[in-house]
Amino acid sequence: MKFQSLMLTLLLHSLFSFAQAEEVRNELYTVMDGTRVDKNTLTGFRTWRAAACDRCHGANQEGMVGPSLNESLKKLSREEFLLTVTEGRLSKGMPSFKENKAVIDNIEHLYRYLKGRSNGDITRAKVEGID
Ligand code: HEC
Repeated sequence: MKFQSLMLTLLLHSLFSFAQAEEVRNELYTVMDGTRVDKNTLTGFRTWRAAACDRCHGANQEGMVGPSLNESLKKLSREEFLLTVTEGRLSKGMPSFKENKAVIDNIEHLYRYLKGRSNGDITRAKVEGID
């Protein structure tokens, strides 16, 4: 009887923790289950897609002609990120996005999204909204 109730407790416990969404929340983003994000971070993802950064940095930010942004954002400061995307590094093949209003208007959101990917909190490149 004691054993059965212990098993039942264990079963209920595992079912409950399975049903619970895993949430990561910090000053930049909120991520649920690795793939659902807050509104601003979702805008960041859409900006990434619209600007086609993936042409050079890869669909999963893993790097192609441009470096892996998953790696880069572990070292690059927020200021360096903003500067690189705005001004580009023309002699090295990174274009300037200063004339691209959609990118400039949403550059902080783009940073949120890429930082979430780089930190491993966003586990899949394609994200959806939390609700
Ligand atoms: C035409 C190709 C191309 C496109 C499109 C492109 N990049 Fe790049 N990017 C590069 C290359 C090449 C570099 C490496 C420059 C260097 O060697 O310093 C780079 C560097 C960077 C870096 C600095 C990485 C580091 O480690 O210092 C960031 C951040 C970055 N790109 C973000 C973006 C974002 C965000 C977009 C879209 C808005 C984008 N890039 C679009 C080619 C591209």
